[in-house]
Amino acid sequence: MTAPQTLPPLDFAAWTARQLAAVERALEALVPADAPAGLGEAMRYAVLDGGKRLRPLLTLATAQAVAGDPEAALPEPALRAACAVELIHAYSLVHDDLPCMDNDVLRRGKPTVHVRFGEAQALLAGDALQALAFELLLPEAAALDEVLAARLCRTLARAAGHEGMAGGQAIDLAGVGQVLTQPQLEDMHRRKTGALLLASVRLGALAAGAAARQCEALDAYGRALGLAFQVVDDVLDVTADSATLGKTAGKDAAADKPTFVALLGLDGARAYADGLLAQALEALDRAGLPDPRALAQLAHGVVQRTH
Ligand code: IPE
Ligand code: IPE
Ligand code: MG
Ligand code: MG
Ligand code: MG
Repeated sequence: MTAPQTLPPLDFAAWTARQLAAVERALEALVPADAPAGLGEAMRYAVLDGGKRLRPLLTLATAQAVAGDPEAALPEPALRAACAVELIHAYSLVHDDLPCMDNDVLRRGKPTVHVRFGEAQALLAGDALQALAFELLLPEAAALDEVLAARLCRTLARAAGHEGMAGGQAIDLAGVGQVLTQPQLEDMHRRKTGALLLASVRLGALAAGAAARQCEALDAYGRALGLAFQVVDDVLDVTADSATLGKTAGKDAAADKPTFVALLGLDGARAYADGLLAQALEALDRAGLPDPRALAQLAHGVVQRTH
């Protein structure tokens, strides 16, 4: 095994392009066009042609970091898990944008799913994407060991459900107009966004058969990165424009949402995200993985991103 410090710099742009091509190909093949009564069209509209694909990239980077070879062909379980987590994320965005939640009209540079297809179809597209995510992880759907499949499903279910994303979204809605303390805000962000990002890392670790010590450190990496991601989302809502974001900027203040910018100010929120990046990198170091290069680059990318 090569020691991490002896590795040459990774061509991250080339690495990312390779992973994204594989993910896009897989999603294109897996999200059906022929679901009844236009549902397939709405599902594909929600998933294809857009998004940074950070969650699948994290899953694939983690699996490759554990296996030690970012050049190797992508193993089927890791690719399946990468697609599954992106489907949950896409579903969460469709529902997040609904009039009964954030009431947004722009997502990934396009009209939101309910604007294009109607609210009922958007609701159903989200439901169907969530179900499809778990179907992808079932043994019959892929060359997946049954125990591994069960572990992947449990990890994703916990991140998506009341303990994670759905619970965080409930806190978010209940928090409108409220002043949350920092621990309360952290809890909300860790659930609504952090849980799925942490699950992305965990799925990759499970798919690659990571050792317990590696899993513990990767968890710390995923937790810090997951929180940092939503803190930066709060910052970008204030600092970036809608064209760059592909979604309406300035929505949080307009909707009186509790955010890290509201709590700490812009500089405070940026400094907080930088501290979380340092924590993530320290944990990654501690994991002692054969090749942590893509994970390190992804962490920098999460905090330094412009959209
Ligand atoms: C946006 O997530 C919603 C949050 C969880 C903050 P992303 O910024 O990853 O959205 P896409 O996938 O790139 O569109
Ligand atoms: C969304 O948080 C989190 C989920 C979709 C679970 P936000 O409401 O801040 O996301 P954006 O800003 O609309 O992308
Ligand atoms: Mg929201
Ligand atoms: Mg929103
Ligand atoms: Mg936001």
